[in-house]
Amino acid sequence: MAKESNHQVSPILIGLMGSGKSSIGRRLANHFGISLIDLDDYIVKKAGRSIPEIFTERGEEGFRDLESESLREVLGKPAVIATGGGAVLREENRALLKRHPPVIWLKASPGFLANRIDGDSNRPLIAAGETLKKLQQLAEIRYPLYEQCADFVLPRGNMKKREALQSILQFLDEWQAGREL
Ligand code: S3P
Repeated sequence: MAKESNHQVSPILIGLMGSGKSSIGRRLANHFGISLIDLDDYIVKKAGRSIPEIFTERGEEGFRDLESESLREVLGKPAVIATGGGAVLREENRALLKRHPPVIWLKASPGFLANRIDGDSNRPLIAAGETLKKLQQLAEIRYPLYEQCADFVLPRGNMKKREALQSILQFLDEWQAGREL
């Protein structure tokens, strides 16, 4: 697939932590020659604090306030946006995402993700251990929310990053062609 210089699409990646939003987002951004906005990094810069520090100082709700504010600031920019796993929790965020297609859900099972992120001290929601159980609880609540927002669902699992990218690019081609009709 040819590299696009006249870029018109700003894909948004959603999904549970560890599903590859940042790394696939980076490849996608490189492909299109645009920047990647990693919402967690954006929040960290904005707050001048790490994610665990924000959770400790302001609680999860304080983090979610910052997350919603940041999402509002970055949507619409010519960039690939990799959101944090909980960005779909608030109704207002979901409404915003729906207004900025295409939204791509990197769908991975808790079992697949647990091995990848176990023991990650930068992720407060799994810091207390029992990573698999916690991910299962998150998946139960969030899968329907990801589903609501997604224009395309990419099943992860053992798919190589290169294949994941190809699959997303194919979707984007079709999605864009549909819009030009
Ligand atoms: C969170 C996911 C994290 C980060 C924060 C909360 C979540 O982002 O925003 O720790 O609620 O799932 P990643 O999905 O990039 O790990």
